[in-house]
Amino acid sequence: MRAVVTGGTAGLGRYIAEGFLQAGAQVVCGARGEGQSGELVKRYGEFVHYHPADVREPASVDGLMTEAADRFGGVDIVVANAGITRNGTVRRLSPEHWRDVMSTNVDGVFHTVQAALPHLERGGGGTILTLSSAMTGRIAPGASAYVASKAAVEAFTRCCAVEFAGRRVRVNCLSPGILTVGMGAAVCADERLRAAYWPRLLAGRAGTPQEAVNAAVFLVSPAASYVNGQVVQVDGGLL
Ligand SMILES: NC(=O)c1ccc[n+]([C@@H]2O[C@H](COP(=O)([O-])OP(=O)(O)OC[C@H]3O[C@@H](n4cnc5c(N)ncnc54)[C@H](OP(=O)(O)O)[C@@H]3O)[C@@H](O)[C@H]2O)c1
Repeated sequence: MRAVVTGGTAGLGRYIAEGFLQAGAQVVCGARGEGQSGELVKRYGEFVHYHPADVREPASVDGLMTEAADRFGGVDIVVANAGITRNGTVRRLSPEHWRDVMSTNVDGVFHTVQAALPHLERGGGGTILTLSSAMTGRIAPGASAYVASKAAVEAFTRCCAVEFAGRRVRVNCLSPGILTVGMGAAVCADERLRAAYWPRLLAGRAGTPQEAVNAAVFLVSPAASYVNGQVVQVDGGLL
C-alpha cells in the first residue's frame, strides 16, 4: 500500500503515518516544514519520505501526489489531515484568521482530494480519509472558524463518497475528540478547559494518538470495505 498523509510531520498526522508504516505501507508525508518526519525516516528508512507541500496551493498538492506516485509506483491511500485552528469569538475573530482556517482546512482538503483522485483511479481505486473534530457536534465559544471548517469537511466527505463510488474510491472522515497530541495537547494543558470537558468524557480522559490511529488504519484498510461516506467519532464518548 502506498499512502500520502498531509500534515504527516507533526501531531496526529505523524502518528497516522507511523501507524501506516507499522502496517507495512509506504508513506509520503506532506507539509510546509519537515517537522518530525526525520524521526520517521530514521526508524523506517526508505519506506517513508517527506515532501514539502502547502495544501492551500493546488499546484503544491499536485506535486506531492506526483512525487508519491513516482517514488512508490502509485497512490492507494490519501489522508487529508493537515489542519489548523484560530481561536476568537465571532465578534472578535479577524477576517484574516477566518480565511487562514478556511483556506487550510476546507480549500486544502478539496485540493488534496482533487489532486489524489487521478492517481487513485490509475491504480484501480483506493481510499481517502479526511479529518473532522468532535467540536462540530459539541460547540464551545471561540472556535467558530474551526467548527465551520470541519462541518464543511464532513459534508464534502459525503459528497466525495457519492461521486467516487463508481470509481472504486471510498471516502470516510475520522472525527477525533480531545487527543493528548497536536492541538488537543493545549486543551489537556489548560486547567479551565479540562474542568469543562473532562466531566463530559465517558472515558474520563483525553485520547491517545494510538486510539485515533487504530480507527484510521481500519478505515483505510480492506477490513472497512463496507464503510463509505461515514464520519466516525473517536472521542471517548464526549456527550
Ligand atoms: N489533536 C487533536 O486533539 C485533534 C482533535 C480533533 C481533530 N484533529 C484534527 O487532526 C488534524 C491534525 O491536527 P493536529 O492536532 O495533529 O495538528 P498539528 O499538531 O498542529 O499538526 C498539523 C500538521 O498540519 C501541517 N499543516 C498545517 N498547515 C498546512 C498547510 N497549509 N499545508 C500543509 N500542511 C500543513 C503542519 O505542518 P506545517 O505547519 O509544517 O505545514 C503539521 O504537520 C487536523 O485536521 C485537526 O483538525 C486533531
